[in-house]
Order: sequence, then C-alpha cells, then structure tokens
Amino acid sequence: MKNDTFLRACHRKEVPYTPVWLMRQAGRYMKEYMEIRKKHSFLEMCKTPEIACKITLQPVERLGVDAAIIFADILLPLEGMGIRFEFAKNEGPVIENPVRSKKDIEKIRVIEPEEDVPYLLEAIRLVKRELNGRLPLIGFSGAPFTIASYIIEGGGSKNYVHTKTLMYNEPEQWHILMERIADVVIAYLNSQISAGVDAVQIFDSWVGCLGPDDYRRFVLPYTRKVINSLKKGIPVINFSTNTGTYLDIIKTAGGDVVGVDWRVRLDRAWDTIGYDTAIQGNLDPVVLFGSAGTIKKRIKEILDMAGGRPGHIFNLGHGIIVGTPVDNVRLLVDTVHELSQRR
Ligand code: CP3
Repeated sequence: MKNDTFLRACHRKEVPYTPVWLMRQAGRYMKEYMEIRKKHSFLEMCKTPEIACKITLQPVERLGVDAAIIFADILLPLEGMGIRFEFAKNEGPVIENPVRSKKDIEKIRVIEPEEDVPYLLEAIRLVKRELNGRLPLIGFSGAPFTIASYIIEGGGSKNYVHTKTLMYNEPEQWHILMERIADVVIAYLNSQISAGVDAVQIFDSWVGCLGPDDYRRFVLPYTRKVINSLKKGIPVINFSTNTGTYLDIIKTAGGDVVGVDWRVRLDRAWDTIGYDTAIQGNLDPVVLFGSAGTIKKRIKEILDMAGGRPGHIFNLGHGIIVGTPVDNVRLLVDTVHELSQRR
C-alpha cells in the first residue's frame, strides 16, 4: 500500500503525519456529486457499481484524504431483510413496513450478501482495482442498535419511543431482534471484507440516546458479537455519538479504533478508552462553516490533545453537513497534514 498511514494509525504504529478522512466525505456538499445526483436517485447510485465507484473516488481526488470509504448506506441490507423503504425528498429514509410486533420480528431474514447486495461487492472490487494500492478502502455497516432504531421507528427519530418501548417492555423480543440484526451485520461486513475492503467502520450513530446501563444490557452483547465474528486481519472502527459519558463501556465492545464525537475532549476520551486502543475524531463538523483561522485553530487544539501519540486518526465527530464549503474541507485535510508533520 503506497499510503498506509491510516492503517498504521489504526494499529497504533508510528506515522509521518496524522492520517485524515471524513465521514460522509462523498455527498451533496460536492459539485461533482451533485452533477451525477441530478440524473439518478441515491439508491440508483448505490446500486450501479460504476457510479458508486466513481463517487467513492471523488473525495480522494479532490481532497487528498488518506482513506476512501465505499459509497453505500447503512440501510442497504434492509431490502434483503424483507423491509421496504425509500428516501423521501428532504425527509431522509422512510420505511414502509416498520417492525413493531413479534410477528414482524419473526419475518426478518438474515441476508445473503452475494444475492442481496451484489452491487456493493462489485463496487468494492471496482474501487480496489482503481485505487491499485494507492490508498486503503473502508467498508462499513450500521451497528445493530442504529439499524434497529430505523426499522422500528420507520425512519429517523427524536425520542426513539417505539424502539425504547420494545426494549423496556418486551426485552425478550428485543433480544431476538438484536440477535437477528447482528447476524445480518456480520454477513454484510464479512462479505465486504471478502470483496477486499482494508478496514471496516461500524456506525452506531444513534445509540447515545441510551444511558450506560441500557447500553450495557441491551446493546453491548450484540455489537461485541459483531466485532468478534468479523474475519480477522483488518482494523475495526467502533464509532458512536453522544456516548462521551460511557466510552469505557463502548470500548469493551471491541475494535482497534474507537470513534468519538466533539461532545467529549479528545484527551479525556483517549484516557478513558485507554492507550491500548486507537482513537478517531473529533472536530465539530460545523467548524467547517467558519473562517480559515478558526478552522486551523480548532484543528491544532485537537492535534495537541492527541499529543503526537501513535494511534490518532483525524476525522470529524460526525458526517460532513450539506452546505459545507469544499475549500474548507480541503483546507482541513491540508492543515491536519501540515500541523501533524513529525520532524
Ligand atoms: O462517508 C461516505 O462518504 C460514505 C457514504 C455514506 C452514506 N451514508 C451516503 C449517503 C455513509 C458512511 C453513510 C452512513 C449512514 N447512512 C449513516 C451513519 C452515518 C451517520 O451519519 O451517522 C446513517 C444514519 C445513514 C442513513 C441515511 N442515509 C440517512 C439518515 C440519509 C438521509 C440524510 C440526508 O442527508 O438526506 C441517508 C442518505 C445518504 N447516505 C446520502 C448519502 C450521500 C444522501 C443521499 C442524497 O440525497 O444524495
């Protein structure tokens, strides 16, 4: 691998500079993306390997990041699970048949990736061929809780009333459901690993709506099972948001890298997680709407908190927001490289 700084940092090895990539680095904030998006729906783009490949590579060319992430979505396994959904205009995902009852849970299928998401595996093979050893490629999945929250709520949610009600009132059904989703995530990620990704990230984007004890009881066993069941040999990034008060528990789910958001100081987060694990994060994505001076200052603060210790991967604390100026994203990547240069 020509640029292996990201993979080396995942394994806490010395690097010449801090590697950086960005969650949602491909997307609507980029003109090149919008040009293709005008002609296709988002799902069409995901399901056409040539398009998914092209979009995966856009931020690689434009930004100079140290890793590519496959253009896909955490909701792609739903179809194979027997759950129908669409991306409604400006509304995010809408699920036609949300999972609410024992009967709904029984009907969920564990996917067979070669049959249910062949386009994703083909896109991974295409990107690997195009990258030709230049950069690592990251595969990803939603974590069991975050997927559960979508399929139970029927879309995004503010209070997770349906999800938590099932969890609190029918724990037996909850555990059956989570076991099933964990098996889906394992199949989904292992197929991506077989297709050639160099690392995987598990997005538990919404799990921070739970307190520490509910995380431990209702979520931890499944995220841990997923991580333990992955094919060995590539780094696993365990990402969540709003979990700053229980990163010690999050860490016990496993993973080579823990991803953290901006609601926690990076130095305190790393101290909590422990220096035997790498850390990824954690700039507030809204900083990228500010001036060059502000952006540079905020980047330096995070690099200082990482203290040049091996095992820091620079990223945002969550995905890039639509409307972010591309020049500022480019400035971010260049600034991280420049300020972290090891002399
Ligand atoms: O990082 C990357 O560049 C890879 C691509 C990627 C997408 N989704 C593409 C996408 C990744 C890593 C995801 C993960 C994902 N998808 C998550 C976890 C990450 C996070 O943000 O917490 C979640 C929760 C989803 C579910 C999802 N997909 C939502 C809520 C939406 C709608 C949001 C919106 O901005 O409208 C999507 C659609 C989606 N996924 C888009 C992209 C580029 C926008 C599609 C479009 O309209 O062009």
